[in-house]
Amino acid sequence: MSEPMDIDPPTSSVNGNSNGNSKPSNAMTALMANSKGKGKANEGEIENKILSDIEIKALNDKEGLPWVEKYRPNTLDEVVSHQDITSTIEKFIEAGRLPHLLLYGPPGTGKTSTVLALARRLYGPPYKKHILELNASDDRGIDVVREQIKNFAMTKVLFSKGFKLVILDEADMMTQAAQSALRRVIETHTKNVRFCILCNYVNKITPAIQSRCTRFRFSPLPQKEIQRKVDEVVEKEGVNLTEDGREALLKLSRGDMRRALNVLQACHAAYDTVDETAVYNCTGNPHPKDIERVVQSMMSDEFGTSYSLITSLKVEKGLALQDLIAGAYDFLDTVELPKQSRIYLLDHLGSTEHRLSVGGNEKMQLTALLGAFKVAVELSQKKI
Ligand SMILES: Nc1ncnc2c1ncn2[C@@H]1O[C@H](COP(=O)(O)OP(=O)(O)O)[C@@H](O)[C@H]1O
Ligand SMILES: [Mg+2]
Repeated sequence: MSEPMDIDPPTSSVNGNSNGNSKPSNAMTALMANSKGKGKANEGEIENKILSDIEIKALNDKEGLPWVEKYRPNTLDEVVSHQDITSTIEKFIEAGRLPHLLLYGPPGTGKTSTVLALARRLYGPPYKKHILELNASDDRGIDVVREQIKNFAMTKVLFSKGFKLVILDEADMMTQAAQSALRRVIETHTKNVRFCILCNYVNKITPAIQSRCTRFRFSPLPQKEIQRKVDEVVEKEGVNLTEDGREALLKLSRGDMRRALNVLQACHAAYDTVDETAVYNCTGNPHPKDIERVVQSMMSDEFGTSYSLITSLKVEKGLALQDLIAGAYDFLDTVELPKQSRIYLLDHLGSTEHRLSVGGNEKMQLTALLGAFKVAVELSQKKI
């Protein structure tokens, strides 16, 4: 913010001068001086204006960044909850013996951040010159692996020694053929390139590549760590987050820091006060009270009553059956149920979710689920 302010004073002083000096006796000279001065002032003004516009734009760009980018850790130390991994990587760097890395784990746990921090640690701020970053949105077919990576690996950055980094983000999306080609590329360029392979599912990476890398697993982040970061962002951005809102946010994020920050930003944009309802509305997740109503109704109401209640709730709140199933699953965790009914229900929740995911008809699956709840209630009354 300080820079545009530095630029502003000269503009006003040029204006001030031209106005202030414009009092000679000769009106013509005065006019000329004035117009000259004005011309200069205008030039200066325009120049300064352009400068400050650009600067303001840059600042705004930073301001306009999604919070996940704005608050992305810059150093390895700032990557929370994976101290064992970051300290091992730090040791590799200090010893000057960085192996190829394979980082895997669920989304939003810091894999990309760790690699970018590693690159910054190795090469300093101009790290972009030393890395080739390819993610799922880039074309990563077999030709790219062969040509682009090879070209990058072969060219040297001026005045630099050591190796360069190739970052393959979301590598589990690469085709098997591309992965096989990669195997050979890794081997031939090990001298001056290190590969950082990032993915969600390690079993989708061919064993041949896995065995050439040092593997690190990024587990879901504990709520405590997410809470700390959320609190930091809340303070810096001036978010009005209530206590129940915070709890809902942490519950919904399920160890995914990206989701926590994205939901927080969306809620902050949409609501003045971010409370529980705001969080559930923003994410499109059903509110626990609605879930409770649905489950209670499925257990105790008539089949038809319950069906129409759920259907109208779905329409009114725009809920999908999948969300209701996920909510019901969480809710069942919190209530007392006889063993046999719980097992029966969990089994049916699982299979209904599966059938929905492969394209099952939502109406039919809802009635099947209702039926399952009815049977579960009957089961609970039987003595075993
Ligand atoms: N371990 C972590 N420490 C600090 N911030 C994190 C961590 N994991 C995720 N984040 C936050 O979430 C965002 C997404 O993390 P990212 O590293 O891109 O996750 P992914 O594991 O999906 O590559 C980051 O910008 C950062 O703000
Ligand atoms: Mg990533």
